[in-house]
Amino acid sequence: MFITFEGIDLSGKSTQIKLLEDYLKRKKKKVITVREPGGTMISEKIRDILLDKKNLHMENVTEFLLFSASRYQLVNEIILPRLKKNYYVLCDRYFDSSTAYQGFGGKVDLKNIYTINKIASANLDPDLTFLINISEKEFLRRKKAIKKAEDRIEQKKLSYYKKVIKGYMTISQNNKGRYVVIDGTKTVEEIHSVITDHINKFNKKFKKK
Ligand code: TYD
Repeated sequence: MFITFEGIDLSGKSTQIKLLEDYLKRKKKKVITVREPGGTMISEKIRDILLDKKNLHMENVTEFLLFSASRYQLVNEIILPRLKKNYYVLCDRYFDSSTAYQGFGGKVDLKNIYTINKIASANLDPDLTFLINISEKEFLRRKKAIKKAEDRIEQKKLSYYKKVIKGYMTISQNNKGRYVVIDGTKTVEEIHSVITDHINKFNKKFKKK
């Protein structure tokens, strides 16, 4: 089963992915977690270029193509082989991040994004996508509370994040079959139980087929 997690920075994705990984391991399932951009040696090198604050003049399309290149390597080197071995593959961001950030946020042409997303994912769609949704106000509140050093993408303006949040809403509505939208202001435990409920439901449906 291929499960992706989406949401703006500070939405709480990483906490939920770790909890889900532990939950599946307790159930004796084979599970691997990967993150985007990254997850392979080549993809991690691309990640360094993408997040490097020195690369301020990077063009939107360059950025998008680098994310895509990193993704193609990850899909072929890790995700597809593990899915073949019946693993649960948990992915921290996938092609919907490119649509939301570079498309809706960065104004790269959406048609081009859809075409290249298909190529960069080797036509592999997630079985389920959890969108952990927070507002830009909640994002700001959390950002003030943590004060960590920001990478290049996190330095973008609040208006950019607003567009990304809206973009995620549109993407979720266009992909209702695989999308579960969760209110990111719920407690960590509440969000975790929504996630496990959906995975169990999905598995029941799959067994019936
Ligand atoms: P990361 O530190 O992994 O952030 P997070 O923990 O929130 O996932 O940095 C990834 C950044 O890259 C994040 O700001 C989102 C952005 N991103 C894109 O803009 N497009 C993409 O296709 C992907 C995968 C990530």
